[in-house]
Amino acid sequence: MSGSPRSILRGIGSYVPERKVDNQELSEKVDTSDEWIRTRTGIKERRFAAKNENTSDLALEASRRALDDAGVSPEKIDLVVVATITPDMAFPSTACLLQHKLGIPKVACFDLEAACSGFLYALDVADGMLSSGRYECALVVGAEKLSSIMDWEDRTTCVLFGDGAGAAVLTKEGEGAEMIGFQCGADGSNPSLLHQPAGGSMQPASQETVDSRGHFLKMNGREIFKSAVRVMERAAIELLEKHGFDKNEVDHVIPHQANARIVESLSQRLEIPLDRFYCNLHKFGNTSAASIPLALDEAYKSETFKKGDLGLLVAFGAGLTWSATLVRF
Ligand code: ACO
Repeated sequence: MSGSPRSILRGIGSYVPERKVDNQELSEKVDTSDEWIRTRTGIKERRFAAKNENTSDLALEASRRALDDAGVSPEKIDLVVVATITPDMAFPSTACLLQHKLGIPKVACFDLEAACSGFLYALDVADGMLSSGRYECALVVGAEKLSSIMDWEDRTTCVLFGDGAGAAVLTKEGEGAEMIGFQCGADGSNPSLLHQPAGGSMQPASQETVDSRGHFLKMNGREIFKSAVRVMERAAIELLEKHGFDKNEVDHVIPHQANARIVESLSQRLEIPLDRFYCNLHKFGNTSAASIPLALDEAYKSETFKKGDLGLLVAFGAGLTWSATLVRF
């Protein structure tokens, strides 16, 4: 399918905080074990940001690396989109804080919240804004400090997540990977499957919301697992069909890095061999909106990626949201 010309992924970069926490260290704090975490999730370690290192700081490092990779200076950026569920504060947006830290001109900056699908949603939005002709060069970031909303009294969630950031520079034209298409969707019928109940207008912060641990992430892991595989499979197939590709033509799949078993199930259902899936979740855990760009950055710079390869990026997250993206590298 031809359609309107799509944007170019000019550069990519990522950053994880220095502090590495392996499963053994976690098991000294929480009633869990390295064996349980590894066999149920594939995660071996994750990174946690320092107390004074905020989401915008992680985003800053990743953005500097992406700008460097793209050979683009901050003054050229005319759009900043940050996907996150852990902004530095409710407002102003982390994108505005990042703009100032990077010395980007006074251009459009906003945050986008689609949980773990956030980075792919943000790519879709930025691509659309570039296609409108009113923007030239976008900085798209996925950044999270999930350690700030993890409940250390809930072993079913606190072992799963980590902190990190990834960023991409998109331009209307030039050298780089070509964005081919996007498929975003959502089903808001069951928000409590994965949510942070307090701190918004429904349950403003109070002593009661603190006592009930309402400011932490809560999840029904088993239900999310089932939905994740189903929605990612559907998004991937619909996107491939829309653009006239067969699944055998996909050279690389970059899935959301939540759980190795989810990735294995997706590989089976899509009938795309597991060795075409790129995974680094064993090192970083689930970093939500940062997960896809963190994996993409590593994968893209590895020797397995060749010019002309077709990449499928696919994610799911709280909402539920889901998203798939096709890229010609
Ligand atoms: N350590 C040891 N035991 C544990 C732990 C732990 N950390 N957590 C749970 N258990 C126990 C449970 O208490 C339960 O014990 P019981 O049988 O005595 O009751 C047992 O392990 C099995 O628990 P389940 O929840 O059934 O375990 P499951 O095999 O489903 O794995 C997991 C749990 C890893 C959370 C899985 O369901 C999953 O990965 N779900 C998807 C989660 C996900 O991807 N979330 C990200 C969404 S993206 C976003 O938007 C942030």
